[in-house]
Amino acid sequence: MKTFATRTTSISDHFFAAVDVRINALRADGNSTPIIRLDIGSPDLPPAPHIIEALTCAAARPDSHGYQPIKGTPALREAWAKLYQRLHNVTLDPTAQVLPLLGSKEGIFHLSQALLEPGDVALIPEPAYMSYVRGARFAGAEPFIVPSSRETGFLPDLAAIPADIVSRARLLWLNFPNNPTSAVASREFFASAVEFALRHDILLVSDAAYTQVTYDGYYAASLLEIPGALDVAIEFNTLSKSHNMAGWRTAVAVGNTDVLKTLGTIEANVNSGGFKPILEASIAALSGDQSWLGPRNQIYQRRRDLVIGRLRELGLEVDLPQASLYAWFKLPGDWKAVDFTNQVLQNARVSLTPGTVFGTEGYARLAFCSPDAELVEALNRLSDLDIW
Ligand SMILES: Cc1ncc(COP(=O)(O)O)c(C=O)c1O
Repeated sequence: MKTFATRTTSISDHFFAAVDVRINALRADGNSTPIIRLDIGSPDLPPAPHIIEALTCAAARPDSHGYQPIKGTPALREAWAKLYQRLHNVTLDPTAQVLPLLGSKEGIFHLSQALLEPGDVALIPEPAYMSYVRGARFAGAEPFIVPSSRETGFLPDLAAIPADIVSRARLLWLNFPNNPTSAVASREFFASAVEFALRHDILLVSDAAYTQVTYDGYYAASLLEIPGALDVAIEFNTLSKSHNMAGWRTAVAVGNTDVLKTLGTIEANVNSGGFKPILEASIAALSGDQSWLGPRNQIYQRRRDLVIGRLRELGLEVDLPQASLYAWFKLPGDWKAVDFTNQVLQNARVSLTPGTVFGTEGYARLAFCSPDAELVEALNRLSDLDIW
């Protein structure tokens, strides 16, 4: 092949694709110490039995194997709408304000293709989930990194965005509870973001992947709870983390009718609906017994305490997450993130994610999606390194 479209050169290989190759190579090096993967936020625990049963029952039926409605079945749309009513007291029209997706990652990427033209700006608070920047670049648009820092709880300073950038901005991404920082946002912050978006005619996009993974009784609000949000915002949600279904690829975009219509047109040209057993199991996840989520969050909370305690013992600066699955810690001294994670992978056989994957130097992310014993082993190995 001689040429590729220039837009493909605007995005490099994905970190988690590259790290798989690296780890497979390391596994073949004759060292019998297992590699512990704390890099990816993929829940290790299974979904509840009633969800798996819905999947297997549907899979055994002969009518389950054909194409499904491209924009999701009415029952699935209804189930997502009911979840928003139940959790957030937000009323959604299941036909116009709910668009099921095959994972939120693809919807996030497609949204940028639907909205952004070359010359447009996408406002992205960093550190950030990488698909926001990559989606903007692939659309030929310009990502503008909105300042945020640990001191301000990783909330973006919207007032600090220069006026000429604001005037070209079409999108503002928000992700609370946040990956990778685990930062959370108050309703007041969400309200100020809605006001900003209305004032500047910018689409507000909330990525709410972690609203149901919360600790110590913390309640994570939906952006759509804010009055006026449906005029100016959409929200992505997913069963990947909320219901331990990351591999199933089942998610949703909810909110502004016009935006979802356009996103739905892209989806209809790329995908052909989901697998019926997964759609039915998603309904079971959304509408069935939810009592298992509390004990599941307790397990994460115990791991969180373990991990944060051990990282602090090493002298690392790290905040205690109220939600999400990550410890986001400042590296000691003047370590570069990639050098640090490479060193840890090479010498401790523990895989972490360098902060640069999310746009931030000098930090690393540890996902606590592994059993306690594995976390303890990984942290022991980390402590034994002579880098502290
Ligand atoms: C903030 C955020 N958004 C979206 C996603 C993608 O989720 P999904 O599995 O629905 O594609 C992730 C996955 O890690 C995430 O952390």
